[in-house]
Amino acid sequence: MKIIAMTNKKGGVGKTTTALSTAAYLGQSGFSVLAIDMDAQGNFSQASGAKRDEAGTFDFLRGDPPENCIQKMAKYDLLAADSRLSRAEKEFDQIGSEHLLEKALKRLKGYDFVILDTSPSMNVLTLNAFAAADAAVVCCQTDSFSLSGLDDLMKNVDLAKEYYNKDLTVAGILLTRYDSRTSISKRTAEMFEARAKELGTRVFGTVIRESVAIKESQMRQCDVFDYSASCHAAEDYAAFAKELYEVLGGDKKKWPKSSQKQSSGSSPRISIPRQPRKRTTTHRRR
Ligand SMILES: Nc1ncnc2c1ncn2[C@@H]1O[C@H](COP(=O)(O)OP(=O)(O)OP(=O)(O)O)[C@@H](O)[C@H]1O
Ligand SMILES: [Mg+2]
Repeated sequence: MKIIAMTNKKGGVGKTTTALSTAAYLGQSGFSVLAIDMDAQGNFSQASGAKRDEAGTFDFLRGDPPENCIQKMAKYDLLAADSRLSRAEKEFDQIGSEHLLEKALKRLKGYDFVILDTSPSMNVLTLNAFAAADAAVVCCQTDSFSLSGLDDLMKNVDLAKEYYNKDLTVAGILLTRYDSRTSISKRTAEMFEARAKELGTRVFGTVIRESVAIKESQMRQCDVFDYSASCHAAEDYAAFAKELYEVLGGDKKKWPKSSQKQSSGSSPRISIPRQPRKRTTTHRRR
């Protein structure tokens, strides 16, 4: 079971979108996936079309039996967020509260992946995600504000490692909302690459392009693959899920065969220079 936290202290950078799309793609590919909404905003739960008045993340953290808290969605199981999560700071204020998720997850068996959607603040829920995760994916919108927030976020990850989870790794930085038509996106991606190297991490080869299908799919409460499997974001998230799987040590040959049709292989990589490009058959930039 690999536990992956989608993170960034900056808001609106694609954490929830990445968590949703990754959970959906891994799920439709045949993996057993549990998604956990660790954000009191509940955006993941809302966009999944989950019931919000039932037991969920809050109850799971309190130690309720997992089977009472988990909702079965089409492609993944879900621990949904409800309004009580906004009281987490008060409810979970005892010594050791940062380890509630880690403890609760130990009672689960049979999942290949647990995907955690985190909030844009370093609150007790985010610290729980860091304490429980094997790997963090740092979601960054491809702009200079995200770039300037990167150092701060990485410092927080280092602190989380020191105090809560020495085994936490950063799987990489995922660039989102990439606009392949502009040179500024390209230049920003180069700067992310350089900074990532200095920080001892990597930028994922796959970048997620800006795509109107993302907002539309979220409004309709379906994932981007069901909404439009051939849109840019669906192609990119499929490629990202496979790249993440490999980065986490998954064997390429063991990727379930049933999913192979669902990715057209035209997802962009951020090798530079980038021009509007023809469809190719490779996902790799390196
Ligand atoms: N590739 C994309 N193309 C177009 N819109 C996108 C893309 N990715 C995300 N968005 C939109 O950007 C907004 C922010 O995305 P999202 O909610 O995933 O960010 P977040 O980091 O989870 O935000 P928060 O910090 O508030 O939880 C949403 O309206 C989403 O629909
Ligand atoms: Mg979010």
